[in-house]
Amino acid sequence: MVISKSNSTKVLVLPLKTQKIPNKLPFTHNVTLTVSLAVGSPPQNVTMVLDTGSELSWLQCNTTRINRPVFDPTKSFSYTPINCSSPTCRTRTQDFSIPASCDSKNLCHAILSYADASSSEGNLAMDNFTIAGSQFSGTVFGCMDSGVSSNSDEDSKTTGLMGMNRGSLSFVSQMGFKKFSYCISGSDFTGILLFGESNFTWLLPLNYTPLIQISTPLPYFDRVAYTVQLEGIRVSQKLLQLPKSIFEPDHTGAGQTMVDSGTQFTFLLGPAYTALRNEFINQTTSVLRVLEDPDFVFQGAFDLCFLVPVNLTGLPELPSVSLVFRGAEITVSGERLLYRVPGEVRGNDSVYCFTFGNSELMGIEAYIIGHHHQQNLWMEFDLENSRIGVAKVRCDVAGQRFGIYH
Ligand SMILES: *[C@@H]1O[C@H](CO)[C@@H](O)[C@H](O)[C@H]1NC(C)=O
Ligand SMILES: *[C@@H]1O[C@H](CO)[C@@H](O)[C@H](O)[C@H]1NC(C)=O
Ligand SMILES: *[C@@H]1O[C@H](CO)[C@@H](O)[C@H](O)[C@H]1NC(C)=O
Ligand SMILES: *[C@@H]1O[C@H](CO)[C@@H](O)[C@H](O)[C@H]1NC(C)=O
Ligand SMILES: *[C@@H]1O[C@H](CO)[C@@H](O)[C@H](O)[C@H]1NC(C)=O
Ligand SMILES: *[C@@H]1O[C@H](CO)[C@@H](O)[C@H](O)[C@H]1NC(C)=O
Ligand SMILES: *[C@@H]1O[C@H](CO)[C@@H](O)[C@H](O)[C@H]1NC(C)=O
Ligand SMILES: *[C@@H]1O[C@H](CO)[C@@H](O)[C@H](O)[C@H]1NC(C)=O
Ligand SMILES: *[C@@H]1O[C@H](CO)[C@@H](O)[C@H](O)[C@H]1NC(C)=O
Ligand SMILES: *[C@@H]1O[C@H](CO)[C@@H](O)[C@H](O)[C@H]1NC(C)=O
Repeated sequence: MVISKSNSTKVLVLPLKTQKIPNKLPFTHNVTLTVSLAVGSPPQNVTMVLDTGSELSWLQCNTTRINRPVFDPTKSFSYTPINCSSPTCRTRTQDFSIPASCDSKNLCHAILSYADASSSEGNLAMDNFTIAGSQFSGTVFGCMDSGVSSNSDEDSKTTGLMGMNRGSLSFVSQMGFKKFSYCISGSDFTGILLFGESNFTWLLPLNYTPLIQISTPLPYFDRVAYTVQLEGIRVSQKLLQLPKSIFEPDHTGAGQTMVDSGTQFTFLLGPAYTALRNEFINQTTSVLRVLEDPDFVFQGAFDLCFLVPVNLTGLPELPSVSLVFRGAEITVSGERLLYRVPGEVRGNDSVYCFTFGNSELMGIEAYIIGHHHQQNLWMEFDLENSRIGVAKVRCDVAGQRFGIYH
């Protein structure tokens, strides 16, 4: 079925997977959210990482690369490279952090770089994308030749990335949908990605938090991110004593709060992180033993870790952590607060790290809400009304309602 780009009345539903990546290096992310779709004519199956934190979708097109799935543009007769003199190249790439350029063949060349220090490089092109049975012709994406990866195991399972931020070239902007939602299961590795209205009787009313927009560009502010206003953090019932100003971007734009499906865990700026860390330790002294090892920092940003006996079945009961946004709240409880570091054993203890990290250890000037803390929530990204809606839901049950799992 070919549907027009302006068609926003239709609802597309597709399965989302949390992919477990064999983790050879314990200090890299091992879980990404992926969707499967088809690209080109005839269609080639591809798997893409869902990323609300970036704009341009891309596919690995270098067919000489081994150990990773690729899209082969030479086998698609609808594949069309984009000229660097075209309006798409000149004006729609304005929110890229590195400006698009012309290559030797006058094609539109892009270099994409991500916060985890990975990057990807190639040319802008158009082709037909088939997603949940609907075709979107002339979708602009990056056909990439090379890149620097932060996780080659991750690369070996995915063809590319689906950019879903608010920029004009993002996948959702190009498709013309005014809303999309996802729901990530907390009990298995499944989920749902839905384009269109999420207007279901079985879903609790969503609590909405407005997206923050700024009128003048600032050097450290990502204008096309899903930026929300964090107003406080609670541990159990106790609200951390922090001035509201620490959650507001400063005059350079540093300090925005982004909802990002492309990041696994959550990052907080130094002062907020330290306050949360202290309070969490305070409230768990009777049930958890802190790992006292200043040299151990999980994934470069998670420096609060605990020793838990290997033979313990399940973690002790822990206080919840609530992120309080303007108009909505995300409460993270129990097992999602601690993450067992694969392969890390001290004596008879496993090492578990707190899933909130310090942005400053990563050189990131922002608060980032990762997908690990968005489990079992219906997350609606409402572009039309510039807001994000949140409601608690069992995502495995929601998935069954759509009949997308067998
Ligand atoms: C969108 O698609 C539906 C059916 O799939 C059709 O009824 C409707 O007219 C279309 N709307 C627009 C704006 O194209
Ligand atoms: C990857 O992450 C999952 C948690 O989502 C963890 O259970 C698993 O041990 C990790 N995989 C490996 C191979 O370490
Ligand atoms: C592509 O995916 C479809 C649907 O999942 C499947 O039926 C088909 O066999 C796949 N094609 C290839 C070449 O893997
Ligand atoms: C691409 O650029 C070349 C040289 O700038 C120009 O001659 C050609 O018409 C352009 N093609 C398209 C499709 O814009
Ligand atoms: C691919 O999209 C083009 C428009 O860009 C359209 O004309 C063509 O029919 C589509 N190809 C196929 C095989 O559907
Ligand atoms: C494709 O990948 C190979 C192997 O990584 C590399 O040597 C080559 O330069 C790449 N091609 C381009 C056009 O970048
Ligand atoms: C949402 O659902 C309500 C009641 O089920 C209906 O009245 C309304 O038209 C729906 N809105 C949209 C945009 O589909
Ligand atoms: C925990 O906090 C309370 C008050 O907030 C304080 O009195 C107490 O000393 C703290 N306990 C620890 C172990 O830090
Ligand atoms: C766990 O191992 C310790 C010794 O390392 C032992 O004392 C304890 O009884 C064990 N607990 C369980 C539940 O097996
Ligand atoms: C680990 O447990 C075993 C048996 O439960 C015990 O003999 C040993 O001393 C313990 N090792 C450490 C480092 O605690």
